[in-house]
Amino acid sequence: MNKAVEFDSLLKKIEKIICDSQTKNEKLKSICKFLKNNVDHYDWVGFYFVNDTGKKELFLGPFEGEPTEHVKIKFGDGICGQAAETKEIFVVQDVTKETNYLSCSPKVKSEMVVPIFKGGEIVGELDIDSHKIEPFTQKDENFLKNVCDLVSKLM
Ligand code: SME
Repeated sequence: MNKAVEFDSLLKKIEKIICDSQTKNEKLKSICKFLKNNVDHYDWVGFYFVNDTGKKELFLGPFEGEPTEHVKIKFGDGICGQAAETKEIFVVQDVTKETNYLSCSPKVKSEMVVPIFKGGEIVGELDIDSHKIEPFTQKDENFLKNVCDLVSKLM
């Protein structure tokens, strides 16, 4: 039988992490770990933040999964940089079909990036890599948008 992901109950647990007594970075790391461990098709989960010195650049924050060489990404570059520029959720169901893509690992088959806003401004992103092709549905989008709204409270 197909195991449906219980996104509502996952969101409640994320809310608990947001409200617990850890530091901001510990909470973000816990969220990455929790998402990676509880959703089968999330194989790398991490946060990128917008450099606040006016440079149009993202830098890597807490993440869970294999280390990546992409610790800084210019706006417009790759899936993350494009999402930062358009300020919209960017879902790539098959990375071989995306020409503006920064590869972290040959295992990655698809990717989804969800912007995080504070006061109407983009302040960061949640980046999910999957080893599956076409794994993402509207439910992932809704869920991850809710996660990012919660994370925005920490910013
Ligand atoms: N693949 C991303 C780079 C970041 S890694 O997935 C961790 C991109 O194309 O922007």
